[in-house]
Amino acid sequence: MKLERLEIAFEGPVARVWLNRPDVRNAFDGLMVTELRKTLFDLRTVDAIRVIVLGGRGPTFCAGADLQWMRAMAAFTREENLREAQAMADLFFTVYESPKPIVTRVHGAALGGGAGLVAASDIPVAALGTQFGFTEVRLGLLPAVISPYVVRKIGESAARELFLTGERFEAVRAVEIGLVRAAVPEEDLDATVERRVAELLSAGPRAAAEAKALIREVAFRRIEDVQEYTVERIADVRTSPEGQEGMRAFLEKRKPHWSQ
Ligand code: COA
Repeated sequence: MKLERLEIAFEGPVARVWLNRPDVRNAFDGLMVTELRKTLFDLRTVDAIRVIVLGGRGPTFCAGADLQWMRAMAAFTREENLREAQAMADLFFTVYESPKPIVTRVHGAALGGGAGLVAASDIPVAALGTQFGFTEVRLGLLPAVISPYVVRKIGESAARELFLTGERFEAVRAVEIGLVRAAVPEEDLDATVERRVAELLSAGPRAAAEAKALIREVAFRRIEDVQEYTVERIADVRTSPEGQEGMRAFLEKRKPHWSQ
């Protein structure tokens, strides 16, 4: 697929995906939604790729949905509106459940759906001074399809405040509420991202994917209801080739084969 809205670079086990529409601060329209979703979906089955870094070209990470595009939706039928909204929801779910860990490299601004991409990803790292916000209500809109991911990350209390006011807030606050994992000076952003990537590469590839699925299954469920599942997961994983190799490598005082 020829990409018009993204730029992708492969470096060994890392895929770097850049939102590439800097003229409108990487606001996403239907084409960007399609390209990003397909790219992330296709990467699921590429064994050689083990970590994805998502960033934005130009001065900002992502200004959310393209408001020209959203505005033009008034001329579309309800069915067409539902289809487009579903495509957006599918994109956030694809980020959320990607078996490859996703590090988001956030700078400039992450607003609306841009903050939604941050929330749906695994390890967001932001430059100090980045502007965050769920600005939708100020536009008469709603942070609808991103809300499940955001509320999971920041909780209902912060969501009530930030969704209802639409206020903008800085990276330090984003760390405090759990939206991003770290806020660092902009000049340290790439080095911080690379450190996170290196740490992710020390994980067994299957174990990393399983760990993501585990969190998804156990979050917000009664312990009694997930116990059987957790028992099955560890019983399966410790006898798997990857689990065996990881434990053998530790006992033999060497690196496991995926870490070399
Ligand atoms: N949709 C469509 N176009 C957008 C956009 C969006 N979400 N965000 C920015 N743009 C466009 C601007 O209209 C402007 O276009 P122009 O050059 O034709 O005037 C261009 O991108 C640059 O924006 P500008 O505001 O001048 O850039 P900036 O670097 O000073 O500020 C932002 C960047 C992201 C902080 C600012 O553009 C902004 O607040 N955007 C709105 C984001 C938002 O509320 N998103 C939620 C959507 S639900």
